[in-house]
Amino acid sequence: MLRTHTCGELRITDIDKTVKLSGWVQRSRDLGGMTFIDLRDRYGITQLVFNMETHATLCKKARKLGREYVIQVEGLVAERSNKNTKIPTGEIEITAENIVVLNESKLPPFTIEDNTDGGEELRMKYRYLDLRRNPLRKALELRHKMAITTRNYLDKQGFFDIETPYLIKSTPEGARDFIVPSRMNTNQFYALPQSPQTFKQLLMVAGYDRYYQIVKCFRDEDLRADRQPEFTQIDCEMAFVEQEDILDMFEGLTLHLFKEIKGMEIDKFPRMEYSDAMKYYGSDKPDIRFGMRFVELNDLTQDKGFAIFDQAELVVGIKADGLSDYSRKQLDQLTDLVRKPQIGAKGLVYIKYNSDGSFKSSVDKFYNTEDLQKITDRFEAKPGDLILILSGETEKVRKQLNELRLEMGNRLGYRNPNVFAPLWVVDFPLLEWDEDNGRFHAMHHPFTSPKPEDIALLETDPGKVRANAYDLVINGVEIGGGSIRIHNRELQKLMFKHLGFTEEEAQAQFGFLMDAFEYGAPPHGGVAFGFDRITSLFGGSDSIRDYIAFPKNNSGRDVMIDTPSLVSQAQLDELMLNIVKPTK
Ligand code: AMO
Repeated sequence: MLRTHTCGELRITDIDKTVKLSGWVQRSRDLGGMTFIDLRDRYGITQLVFNMETHATLCKKARKLGREYVIQVEGLVAERSNKNTKIPTGEIEITAENIVVLNESKLPPFTIEDNTDGGEELRMKYRYLDLRRNPLRKALELRHKMAITTRNYLDKQGFFDIETPYLIKSTPEGARDFIVPSRMNTNQFYALPQSPQTFKQLLMVAGYDRYYQIVKCFRDEDLRADRQPEFTQIDCEMAFVEQEDILDMFEGLTLHLFKEIKGMEIDKFPRMEYSDAMKYYGSDKPDIRFGMRFVELNDLTQDKGFAIFDQAELVVGIKADGLSDYSRKQLDQLTDLVRKPQIGAKGLVYIKYNSDGSFKSSVDKFYNTEDLQKITDRFEAKPGDLILILSGETEKVRKQLNELRLEMGNRLGYRNPNVFAPLWVVDFPLLEWDEDNGRFHAMHHPFTSPKPEDIALLETDPGKVRANAYDLVINGVEIGGGSIRIHNRELQKLMFKHLGFTEEEAQAQFGFLMDAFEYGAPPHGGVAFGFDRITSLFGGSDSIRDYIAFPKNNSGRDVMIDTPSLVSQAQLDELMLNIVKPTK
């Protein structure tokens, strides 16, 4: 072994031991008679000291070491005169007797420090250097712990870890597929799985009644902080269960993770129907760390001469506690915010319930003190509060107010990343109307079972049918989603019909699943958690990128290995693919 200990291991109790350490030169300080080097590895930092008086040649050698050189050092553990209480090895240092340069390093393009000077793009290009930094090392350590804790929990519950293929047939789950040409089957393509959905259902038919996998999924969709084209799911399925059993099992997993990883005991998760989530929070993933529920006002605002409210399908607002002294400028900023194209509101109405009990609103012309009192009463507002109101088409205005609510939550400090508020959102609609294509889409996926009592509505009012589908939401982030599945051929056929498939199309794409349903498919259901998302949530960050060793950038590129990239003409010819050659 090139080392006897790691750089994070030695303590005052190890004094006088002769040790060998290996690692990277973090920093070196030359103080004339002495040279100090901070030696770093995955486990920590240990100070090395080279004495010019006793070891002149060695000390000169040490002075030549550059940042990020890989060295091996042999020496004696000694007590430091100048102790560093900030690091676990801070009471000792190694009096060096010998060093071996294991490898040199070019000067790194950015500093390998907790607060680095490197920009995002540069750090992505040299990801292997960025990964040497503490914040990323901690993120990957957390990811590892989350994975191992999940595996242990599910193993104890009798789940089998079963791998499913990556070269599959396209499964429509809302995103575009990445496709892979087949050399042996000219003009035919595999698709990379958006999730192992159909395979885990087939495993239930096969009798493996508790399956899980921590598995890569691939979706060709636009990227955001919480979305990567390849990401990881904790994917699970169970047979002979009802919705309640799945919620119990995976609430159990989540509680276990909170306890083991964060040492936190969390209460039983509340449930909210999808329709209430939309009505009171304007989102199917409400952040319930704070209240600020929507209050609808149509009846109180009608027929007072304010045409905008009179014509609106919905007039709805929120109360921001204690912000009645917001200045004109601050209110203008909020108005600008909701008017941004990404949010798209036309304007913002405010009512200040001043500390002295008086009102000041942007609609004083139309509403007298009594009207304003009635409105603020509905919010249970106190003097000092600020009411913010939007109006328009119901669906749109709810989404807009959701954005404003989250912004006000941030401003009021209600969104503390160390506070966790999990929530099950249940009773999702089965189908969602797709304006662009003039047809229904499965809101979760086409294998989701309608609520038995709503099946009749499929013929008369498909948009009203509720599904046995649920999402786990924590702090406004959709951590997971799942459903009880259809396990009956006829019902699955009916679903495809409502999704606009002809019988032939349904058979061609999903015949394998419907056929399997004819061979004793048990009732089953499952869920998948976004593993990158739950890890970054536990780590206190909005961005999943830092929790993935080698992520893609916003354009879906890996700038380190420079891909996607061109392939040779010979490869294309072999695949019989005719690609229009780029001009440059
Ligand atoms: P769903 O599509 O809801 O369900 O995905 C499950 C969870 O995966 C995470 N997720 C993502 N994370 C990072 N980047 C992405 N592009 C991305 N897309 C999704 C989310 C999401 O809640 N087969 C079903 C599950 C089931 O029904 O059992 C499925 O994949 O956290």
